[in-house]
Parts: sequence; C-alpha cells; structure tokens
Amino acid sequence: MKKLIHPVTITFLVVTLIITLQFLLPKRSIEKFSDEDLREAALSRDMSPVPKNHEALLKVIDNPENPMSREKIALGKELFFDTRLSRDQSISCASCHNLKEGGDDNLPTAIGFHGQANPFHLNSPTVLNAALAKAQFWDGRAKDVEEQAGGPVQAPFEMNMTPREVEERLNKDSNYITKFKALFPEEKITFENVRKAIGAYERTLLTRGSYDRFLEGDNSAISAAAKRGMTLFIVKGCKGCHTGMSVGGQSIQKFPLRNYFSDFVGMIFEPDLRIKESPFPFINQGGFLGRDNTLKFRVPILRNITKTAPYFHNGSVEKLEEVVRIMSKYQIGNEFTPEQIDDVVAFLKTLEGELVAY
Ligand code: HEC
Ligand code: HEC
Repeated sequence: MKKLIHPVTITFLVVTLIITLQFLLPKRSIEKFSDEDLREAALSRDMSPVPKNHEALLKVIDNPENPMSREKIALGKELFFDTRLSRDQSISCASCHNLKEGGDDNLPTAIGFHGQANPFHLNSPTVLNAALAKAQFWDGRAKDVEEQAGGPVQAPFEMNMTPREVEERLNKDSNYITKFKALFPEEKITFENVRKAIGAYERTLLTRGSYDRFLEGDNSAISAAAKRGMTLFIVKGCKGCHTGMSVGGQSIQKFPLRNYFSDFVGMIFEPDLRIKESPFPFINQGGFLGRDNTLKFRVPILRNITKTAPYFHNGSVEKLEEVVRIMSKYQIGNEFTPEQIDDVVAFLKTLEGELVAY
C-alpha cells in the first residue's frame, strides 16, 4: 500500500510555507486611492481646506465672546508687533513668532527677556493657524488665543510685564486710546481688551497652500509622492491625531504612546544616556513632561511644519525625516521605510502655505 503523507506533516509544511512567504513576497502595497478617493477620504475624515475669504473665515473662526471686526484685527496686529508689551521694550510677539519664517523662531528653545531661555527648554510653536486649535500651548493649558495672549506678556523669561504695567503704558498713548475707545465699551485700555485685540488678529493668521487646492479639486496641485504620503498619513493613522483644518491641535495625546522592549534592552546593554534619562526617543532637555507630568501633549499643528524646525516640545530633533520615523514607530507602531518617510515628508511639504489676506 502506498504510504500517504501524514496530515500533521502536510499542516507543518503549509504553515512553514505561509510564514516563509510573508518574508519573501514584497510587502503588500498599501491601498491605492484614485485622486478622487484620496480627497474623499481626507474630507470625510475631518481634514478640510482653509477658507478663501473674509466671510468664509468668520463662519469658521469668529469668537462670539470677542467678535472680529476689521478695526479690531488691525489693532491686534499693531499690538502683536509692538515691543512696548515687554519690560525693556525690546521684544514683541513677532520676535519669537516670525510670520515670514513659519510663525516661529527656528530656535530649539525660545529666548526672551534679557536673553533668557525658556526654563523648560520649550520650543516656540507656530502662531500660524494656531487659532484653529482646540487648546493652546504644548500641554494645552489655555483654551483659546485670547486666553493664551496673556501668558507671554507676563512670563518673566518672555516679556516680563504685569497686566497693570501694560495698561499704564498703553493708556499714555493717544493712538491706542482712540482705537480702543472705538472698539470696546471700557473707558480705559484694559489688559483683557489687549488680549482680545491680539486674539482677533491671530484668528486671521491662517495659511493656504497646495494641500488646500488639492482638497478643493485640483489634482495637479500636489505631486505623486505627496499623494502617496497623504495616503499613508490617512491609512496608517497619523490623521487620527493630526486632524482637522489645522492638521493637528484638536486633542491632547500621549507621547510616546508605545514603549519598546528593544529600547529597554538597549538601555541595559548599551547604556545610551540620551534614552536612559528620557521617557522620549530623544534627549529630554528641560524636563517638561506634558500635561500634569503625564506625557500628554497638545497634538502639534502640522501646517507649515517644514518651516518650523527644530521639532518636538523641546526642539530636540532637527530633521523632519527623523520626526516622521519616530512618530511612525512610537505613535502608530508601524515604522516607516525610508521611501515611505520621503513620501510623507513630500506630503507635509504641501502643508506649507501663504497667509490669506482676509
Ligand atoms: C520669548 C519668545 C516668545 C514671545 C515673546 C512670545 N511667545 Fe508665544 N510662545 C513661545 C513659546 C516657547 C510657546 C510655547 C510655550 C508653552 O507651551 O508653554 C509659545 C506659545 C504660543 C502660542 C500657542 C500656539 C500653539 O499652537 O499652542 C501662541 C498662540 C502664541 N505663543 C502667541 C504669542 C503672542 C500673541 C505673543 C505676544 C503677546 C507671544 N506669543 C510672545 C514663545 C514666545
Ligand atoms: C496618538 C497620537 C499621534 C499620532 C497617531 C501621531 N502623532 Fe505626531 N505628534 C503627536 C504628539 C502628541 C506630538 C508632540 C510630541 C512632543 O513634542 O513631545 C507629535 C508631534 C509630531 C510632529 C512634530 C511637530 C512639531 O511641531 O514639532 C510631526 C511632524 C508629527 N507628529 C507627524 C506625525 C506623523 C507623520 C504621524 C504618522 C506616522 C504622526 N505624527 C502620528 C501625536 C500623534
């Protein structure tokens, strides 16, 4: 009688074959979207273009507690660039938030009053599109741009003023007195109204670029690499956190989300001080650990991200490629290949934009 192969052997061979094929076959390529599908995928997942004109802007961003008007916006702009908001009259908001350079200072950490560095080694985030965020600051501790604007004026290492001193200084200026009187019911200039005027101006600091044109239907606005990167960004889950019109800023999230055994082993056998001392995959200069020290951070806004190096809350990582690698490994648990990283960076480049003249 012919000897049949034993079923256990067959099962063993089949399982071995399946496992081997996993390694031999090229990695299954991710879903290929047509341009229309990609746009649909983005729009249906809360990613949307920045409004084109003043009327559309008001629908998106007006604050009922601080209604915007052209006069208030102009006054806020004047204050944003006014160095008199700082003690020695040398620093304005624009000193750290240069609107021509991506809305930040391109320094690892902010330098304020008398050359002092931020004590937590915090990196200046961009003010561009910040008004679209649901919370402000790296730990999301301010609710909106109006509340936020009071912070830097008073921080001893930034502008180092008190609200009283700001009021006294501005109430001596007839230009400001007239303009505030026309806009607010209060007899004198108040610190609260200074915050409101600056906030109204910041609400207009929105940028549009090729990403917005693609979302509005122009298939040629972005490159094939950028489309591949955008697909990865959506399908692999980056957009789960970096979402909304500002591509970020909508929630507070844990970072790093995943901790790796290999890093842990590396720490023991190849003690690398940078990792050993830090809960982050980069040097923890400044000791800032996010909201209530729980490693929770306001998800950063990715519009204009290519112009705001260095990266992360303490400005520890210089290269955007490395940031994307870290994010893919620690936030989505799916480390991107160098080609995938390049595609995602090509997509991030489409988030560069110009200020819209509202
Ligand atoms: C000395 C540099 C410096 C100055 C001056 C400064 N900022 Fe900032 N700004 C920073 C830093 C650093 C942060 C992050 C601080 C944090 O998260 O605790 C920040 C955060 C912000 C944010 C939050 C953005 C976001 O996405 O969370 C806004 C908005 C902002 N600043 C606007 C202003 C305005 C308005 C002024 C002027 C009244 C101003 N800044 C003055 C350095 C500065
Ligand atoms: C679970 C939420 C989450 C996911 C998913 C996520 N991120 Fe992030 N991302 C964050 C947080 C939080 C930070 C801020 C961390 C810090 O500064 O310490 C951040 C920071 C960044 C930064 C640096 C921003 C800056 O201004 O310095 C970039 C770029 C970025 N993420 C891109 C990506 C990409 C690309 C993906 C997908 C591979 C991704 N993120 C997935 C939450 C997330």
